[in-house]
Amino acid sequence: MDIECSQTMIHGMRIKDGKAAYVRRFVRTSRLKQEEFFGGSKFMKVGDLKGLFGLLMVNMQMLRAKTKVLDMSYGNGTGNTNLIYHHGKLLALQEADKPYVVKVMEDGDLQTIGLLDYEKRLKHSFTAHPKVDPFTGEMFTFGYSHEPPYVTYRVISKDGVMHDPVPITISEPIMMHDFAITENYAIFMDLPLYFRPKEMVKEKKLIFTFDATKKARFGVLPRYAKDDLLIKWFELPNCFIFHNANAWEEEDEIVLITCRVQNPDLDMVSGDVKEKLENFTNELYEMRFNMKSGVASQKKLSESAVDFPRVNESYTGRKQRYVYGTILDSIAKVTGIVKFDLHAEPEPGKGKIEVGGNVKGIFDLGPGRFGSEAVFVPSKPGTTSEEDDGYLIFFAHDESTGKSSVNVIDAKTMSADPVAVVELPHRVPYGFHAFFVSEFRRSHGHRRLERTRENKLFLEHSNGL
Ligand SMILES: [Fe+2]
Repeated sequence: MDIECSQTMIHGMRIKDGKAAYVRRFVRTSRLKQEEFFGGSKFMKVGDLKGLFGLLMVNMQMLRAKTKVLDMSYGNGTGNTNLIYHHGKLLALQEADKPYVVKVMEDGDLQTIGLLDYEKRLKHSFTAHPKVDPFTGEMFTFGYSHEPPYVTYRVISKDGVMHDPVPITISEPIMMHDFAITENYAIFMDLPLYFRPKEMVKEKKLIFTFDATKKARFGVLPRYAKDDLLIKWFELPNCFIFHNANAWEEEDEIVLITCRVQNPDLDMVSGDVKEKLENFTNELYEMRFNMKSGVASQKKLSESAVDFPRVNESYTGRKQRYVYGTILDSIAKVTGIVKFDLHAEPEPGKGKIEVGGNVKGIFDLGPGRFGSEAVFVPSKPGTTSEEDDGYLIFFAHDESTGKSSVNVIDAKTMSADPVAVVELPHRVPYGFHAFFVSEFRRSHGHRRLERTRENKLFLEHSNGL
């Protein structure tokens, strides 16, 4: 059945015994089932306009289109967003909803099991960007809402038990797409992208309004806190942030590596969109929050535009060195994959992202070829081998030939010669986030990639076009 534009599709690549198999499957949400009943995309528009969470997602997609993360010309589906693996379950995530459990079948096929509410303990939405601590096996997450508490923080034990909700106090409802953890803290981003439906109605604005008169606020909370009494808030010049790369502790300071969006002008109702896109920047930043002095500082690490930062997730919450991001061009497409070295200094004044300084390598997709988020897959999970010993895997699409492929490149060398390219039988639309899981990891723990014969599954969400 062909369902138009409103559903999320997962594209998966299973790699086993030197062979690759591709699968694409819808996340079978209740929404999809209703659309199947109607036989088309009616539900999407009705649902998105009526439901609050639908509105959140519609506007989030508009924001993404505006900020060049998503190319709207390929559709405006619900934007189901990310995947994560925790407590033996692969979860399909969208920040307006609860997780859906997706089972990876023996042959690599994907089957939606259903909604996960942690034995009815989860009553709010669940971010698409939870963090799994690689050392403790716990998962840390939050949800945001238009009603108090505007943000709710949760800890899930390595055994899959969700702890009690921790409300985070902020002044107004906002969009909070991501957060971060360190060994001892959780970091929340109270950025001035406000949920203001009255302004939308009165002034024909979007339901989320960026208020340039307000600061960007970052809250650092001990990560096992039962309430937010001990949260420390820091202020920096205003910005919006979709995605953090990582965070860690350095003596008295919390360090956050993030992709900072300057001037996210969301008014798509009027004005010169092209001009506004040219004013937009999306740059890699280092932010520091001193827990003793209360002082916050920030430092620009790259030119524009870079987003979808990924790291070796064996280092989540811990000090590390390399960040891999996508280079976005002026029309919101991924033109290349870039590797940053946080131990090196940026070369200022270049005006665009080029090799040199802290840019250790760029894999340029070439004319007419565009890509997706590149997930880092370590050769050997853990922190005993070199941090960048591994691969970057991503989808790419050639607009001149209409062909799509999965590309595997060497993360250490960023060589222009891919390690492997798997041509796909049909086009894969530009998507959001990518994820990798190995069958061996699911059952036995970790082992070196090239020596194993296990199933490996590289997955990516798209908007189901
Ligand atoms: Fe995201």
